[in-house]
Amino acid sequence: MIKQLNPGAASGRTAAPLINVLMLIKHSLFISSLFIIFIMETLTTANAQDTPTKASSQQMVDALHAAFGKHPNARAVHAKGIILEGDFKPSAEAKKLTIAAHFQHGTIPVTFRFSDFTGIPDISDMNGGSNPRGLAIKFHLPDGSSTDIVSHSFNGFPTANTDEFRELLLAISKSGPDAPHPNAVEQFLGTHPVAKTFLTTQKPPSVSYATLSYYGVNAFKFTNADGESHFIRYQMIPEAGDEFLTADQLKTAGPDYLSMEIKKRVAAHTPIRFNFYAQVAEDSDTIDNPSIAWPDSRKMVLLGVLTIKSITPNTLAEDHALTFNPGNLPDGIEPADPMVIDRKKMYPISVAERNN
Ligand code: HEM
Repeated sequence: MIKQLNPGAASGRTAAPLINVLMLIKHSLFISSLFIIFIMETLTTANAQDTPTKASSQQMVDALHAAFGKHPNARAVHAKGIILEGDFKPSAEAKKLTIAAHFQHGTIPVTFRFSDFTGIPDISDMNGGSNPRGLAIKFHLPDGSSTDIVSHSFNGFPTANTDEFRELLLAISKSGPDAPHPNAVEQFLGTHPVAKTFLTTQKPPSVSYATLSYYGVNAFKFTNADGESHFIRYQMIPEAGDEFLTADQLKTAGPDYLSMEIKKRVAAHTPIRFNFYAQVAEDSDTIDNPSIAWPDSRKMVLLGVLTIKSITPNTLAEDHALTFNPGNLPDGIEPADPMVIDRKKMYPISVAERNN
């Protein structure tokens, strides 16, 4: 049995629907509709890559810019963020699932980056469009290499694949307040109910980046020392539990309340720990479609504990140098969803642009 997404239902409270906010954001950005039409017309089917995706990596990054604007030194998406450091202690169970290096030994150092959604570097944390939040994790492996997880605070994705995500981004770019109804986004949502669920059922803003669960969304294949493989998806669940602002608290929170809050939490030595799980698929689960969440009843294997201990200086140079890529994987872990292979090629394009 495969469960469709219904992630917002549990909270009972909602921030301004993301889609309304994105439309307002769009209004504040000058995007030439002729440019968008040009991009649409130049979409080619000849893209030499090993996934069914038609759009090129550059076209995907350009679609993010079309939706959110292009901002100097900023990531194409999840532009606003804060870098922290800590460590990871693996569980004994983890090495039964995979030979991946970060699960074989003791505690290793980790770099974290929490972020807000959209490519707008100064988006307010109070803005509904800044959900879902992001959590990127870099494990520093004993041999000097690294491996990354890039997750967000929603158990799913608005679209089934990369090309559909581009369609959604371009629809957002064309759906400013002056666009006649049904505008491009409304038309897209009319035929993509999962995207509508994603955009209209985001959790309310959390009290802290540390009081929010994060999901890897795309599936990976774990292989252990006996050659046995399992399909898994990551979940990072805060030890403090999920905790959200009330509507009154949100009114006075402040545009940068999340980074201010996490700095205070670290300064006070309040433990910030996430239990890091692999949700293990069963045979009936869809592996290559991130818009379909696996049932909560699936086996959850605790892979270890992530602990955040300090904030880095967060200089521009440090931000430039810090790059995460969901396709940066060690032996024992492989992409199981074509979107990971696409993402592996797309992230470096944004990195090159923001470091120019
Ligand atoms: C086809 C789908 C996707 C595309 C094209 C895409 C594209 C990108 C790009 C271009 C960046 C900026 C990279 C940089 O400049 O360093 C980025 C960052 C990010 N993406 Fe994605 N992404 C996709 C799917 C996802 C999914 C499924 C998630 C969550 C599970 C996600 C979460 C994030 C986060 C949290 C960041 C910020 C990473 C950081 O802190 O440096 N993305 N994405």
